[in-house]
Amino acid sequence: MTIIQPHGGKLINLYDPTLSIKGLHKTVSIDATSVSDLELIATGAYSPLTGFLTSKDYHAVVNNIRLADSTIWSLPITLPVKDSSAYSVGDTVLLDYQGEIYGTLEITEIFEPDQQIEAEKVYKTTDRAHPGVAKLFDRGHIYLGGPIKLIRRIEQRDFAEFYFDPSETRQAFENNGWKTIVGFQTRNPVHRAHEYIQKTALETVDALLLNPLVGETKSDDIPAHVRMESYQVLLRDYYPEDRVKLAVFPAAMRYAGPREAIFHALVRKNYGCTHFIVGRDHAGVGDYYGTYEAQEIFSIFTAEEIGITLLFFEHSFFCKACGNMATPKTCPHSSQDHVILSGTKVRTMLKSGVLPPSEFSRKEVVDVLIKGLQEKELVK
Ligand code: ADX
Repeated sequence: MTIIQPHGGKLINLYDPTLSIKGLHKTVSIDATSVSDLELIATGAYSPLTGFLTSKDYHAVVNNIRLADSTIWSLPITLPVKDSSAYSVGDTVLLDYQGEIYGTLEITEIFEPDQQIEAEKVYKTTDRAHPGVAKLFDRGHIYLGGPIKLIRRIEQRDFAEFYFDPSETRQAFENNGWKTIVGFQTRNPVHRAHEYIQKTALETVDALLLNPLVGETKSDDIPAHVRMESYQVLLRDYYPEDRVKLAVFPAAMRYAGPREAIFHALVRKNYGCTHFIVGRDHAGVGDYYGTYEAQEIFSIFTAEEIGITLLFFEHSFFCKACGNMATPKTCPHSSQDHVILSGTKVRTMLKSGVLPPSEFSRKEVVDVLIKGLQEKELVK
């Protein structure tokens, strides 16, 4: 059995609940994105990263989509602070999230990045209307770099049974005898187009890792707990149980389009996937990226250095003339026959209790979404 190599060759493990923090007094307050990054570095999801980036790696990532040693890496995973006057290089600091200590950072560098350049290179825009750019500018203008240790896991309240570390998904794949596994990233409910591309992939590989992102997303995305319920209903009724694993990806969404697609693929390799799906406008938002830019970007790398097989899909839709799901590659009919709805339109329909057509989304999924979104409105 050959389990795919993690990115960089070694699965990182920096979780040590027994680590003594006696004598350490300086703390850094971190936000939800940083605590999630901390945990994902420590569990090996971000292998080969062992900490928050120092300037050499940061500049290499921003400018060349590689770490300083030339390993491909596309998103600068940094620890931003607003004020660094209390810290010095050489300090080991405690990382505090909402009053609890989750880990330590050995500060090897404190540096001030040019965030305009970072935004331009990583997000391809400096427009504050882009949610990833707004967050970049708001989080802090000084970066603390250095190796980390995780000493406490984030407590999971909802859907705890779907949290797995990369070592656990790898073990599960091996136990199931799966040799080829396709990873699927999503921040949305699984609609018919998603189902179509997943199942098209499933025709040629052993299994699907349905790996929805459940970290921070923008406020108008459908909340993770509602999505999780919808995935379970769909898997129960329409997917072969012995060929699908549902596991959450607890990272924050960056909406960085092409750059994030590379990141998503490398992380899924660390979880043990051999294949990864990139469809239309992967991890995109608004009109910042071209429809297939997140696929095209992979052409600058060799297959060996990416180390996971990309499965690219064109825009998929239900075609009334074909009477089934299709893409421009398989359908000869005009767009008038195609059922295509924007995410915004669907959310508006769901919020007002209107059912999107069954060609767009299965009724079982829609029922869960309507119930979930109406409850959310009531809570407001
Ligand atoms: S994402 O931000 O997580 O990429 P989303 O959940 O919408 O957003 O997409 C999940 C995956 O499905 C991505 O690879 C995306 O490119 C792909 N995808 C979404 N909708 C379609 C579609 N209609 N046709 C083809 N691919 C799609």
